[in-house]
Amino acid sequence: MNLDFEPERFRRLLAQASEQVLSLHASLPRSRVTHASSPRTVAEPFLGILPETGMEPEAVIQDFIPFIFEHSTLNLSPRFFAYIMSGGSQVGVLADLLCAGLNVNSAKWHLASAAAEVERTAVRWLGEFIGYRSGPGGALVSGGSEANLYGLRVARDVHAPDVREQGLAGSRPLTLYASEETHSCITKSVEMLGLGSSHLRKVPVHADFRVDVDRLEQAVRRDANAGLKPFCIVGNAGTVNTGAVDDLEALADVAERHGLWFHVDGAYGAAAARVEGVRGRFKGLERADSVALDPHKWLQVPFEAGCALIRDWDGLRRAFTYSAAYLQARSDSEERWDWMGHTFQLSRAFRALKVWMQLQVYGSGKLRAVIADNLQLMQQLGAEVDAACDFERLAPVSLSILCFRYVPSVGRRWDEASLDMLNARLLEECERRGQFFLTGTRLRGRTALRACLVNHRTTAAETHGLLAHLRSVGEELAASWEGGA
Ligand SMILES: Cc1ncc(COP(=O)(O)O)c(C=O)c1O
Repeated sequence: MNLDFEPERFRRLLAQASEQVLSLHASLPRSRVTHASSPRTVAEPFLGILPETGMEPEAVIQDFIPFIFEHSTLNLSPRFFAYIMSGGSQVGVLADLLCAGLNVNSAKWHLASAAAEVERTAVRWLGEFIGYRSGPGGALVSGGSEANLYGLRVARDVHAPDVREQGLAGSRPLTLYASEETHSCITKSVEMLGLGSSHLRKVPVHADFRVDVDRLEQAVRRDANAGLKPFCIVGNAGTVNTGAVDDLEALADVAERHGLWFHVDGAYGAAAARVEGVRGRFKGLERADSVALDPHKWLQVPFEAGCALIRDWDGLRRAFTYSAAYLQARSDSEERWDWMGHTFQLSRAFRALKVWMQLQVYGSGKLRAVIADNLQLMQQLGAEVDAACDFERLAPVSLSILCFRYVPSVGRRWDEASLDMLNARLLEECERRGQFFLTGTRLRGRTALRACLVNHRTTAAETHGLLAHLRSVGEELAASWEGGA
């Protein structure tokens, strides 16, 4: 049974779906960033039983899509400052449509030859964009978590080649080293690789939230002397909490001295590595054995798009090349590039199209300009916080993350515990009101407001607006605090 529509109807449906996207984008200046509906309200339209007879697509688009849009948090919005999520690009919208229209499987060259070449170029360009020339080494994956997993997987295989067949039992425990500010996906990856999270040494950071390299090296020495097998150092090129960039050059030196793999988690920050004003902070990135980078963060590519850059290209190939009789059609060669031999997935979406189109349309110039704008806006916001008597900055603004807190300047004396509660309430209240959205974190035992900007739509109007909004909601909360405490 052919499921296709008549061409004219398909054309109208495409137009109808496009209208929804157009009106969503047009409404961004006014829209709430968050919604305030209860989980029950959000679930309500989707509680029905699986239909035997379907519904007309026109009705599905009309009845459900506005509801879904309305009940989604809009990281598209210029007033979104939560987590590390970009606004996405309209080029990405087009690319996703074209990708679904073609629906190729980019696993094998003979299934998707143009897609294979597009991905090779996308990976090469991403490496160039951050100043990491890994040759062709790397692959597009779902996001930063998977990209980090790939780096650690290849590191493990290179340093303990027997583990693939023999497992870890009987081998010396493999240990790795990263700052205590490292993203949780590194711990997840360590667990998935069977290394044991207790073998991930979380090294303390300095006051600027960068890893203490001396202590890290001491830990490597201690483990080696105790008969363990140190194999990898993970450096941060932009931590999730504060955006701190570790001293990558010093970490590369330690890795070299001890013969360890050097992996850099640049999921967030590596995109800024060649942006004027901050590029010096990333010195040493180019010496990494592997780098995780997330085009769906600062490069504004719609979800999902991550990239694992691996210098040891054969290591990646060895990690993922398996043969199966039914997959042997046409010979694999340098010319016929089979992505299934370099990645975990067999069936693979053509996610390279949106990454490549983004770079092809905007070029490195515009994308770097977006990052430079974001950096400057957050520096200015940091300066405003420093100048204010009712806000306190809690960490340096290394990239585009500002960690701070509201400290009412009049009224009662606020102890640390009450300030923590007040700032937590402030975050909840902002989310409930929906005009701006930011999230929080804990820094040195204190509750921080955390504003992160990786959005090309945000201007100074929104960053000023954010502070004014926090001040006004904060004043309201503080004024009625006896009841709320
Ligand atoms: C530093 C860092 N590493 C890794 C990740 C995980 O990336 P993803 O969410 O794309 O899996 C994040 C996500 O915010 C991150 O900030």
